[in-house]
Amino acid sequence: MLYVTRREVFSASHRLTNPDLTDNENVDIYDKCNNPYGHGHNYTLEIVVAGDINPKTGYVIDLKKLKKIIKTKIISKVDHRHFNYEVDFMQGIIPTTENIAVGIWNELVNEIKEGRLYSVKLLETENNYIEYKGG
Ligand code: NI
Repeated sequence: MLYVTRREVFSASHRLTNPDLTDNENVDIYDKCNNPYGHGHNYTLEIVVAGDINPKTGYVIDLKKLKKIIKTKIISKVDHRHFNYEVDFMQGIIPTTENIAVGIWNELVNEIKEGRLYSVKLLETENNYIEYKGG
């Protein structure tokens, strides 16, 4: 089994707030991330595809194709956007790094037909990241 990674970067804003909680509860939980006007991050996204080498091509997945899938399905929808208002696959979901990673997984899992989606790693800062492997 081989693991192929494509890295992308994007910038986006979000506001962490749970509409089912009071304003005070939201501030207690999310603190600065509950700022009413949101705030931004420079995210790094790492998509890992697992598979065997295709003897015809020598690839697990053609990275040009993987890049195009990620650009079309994710980057074009999130880069310089506000997760709470503008990103279709995040509507009604609190845009924590956890939930965004799951959302990205759900957008990509059926699009990758060479090998299989193995993990979505989303770095919100260089020190904080989430990795989702499905299930
Ligand atoms: Ni944030």
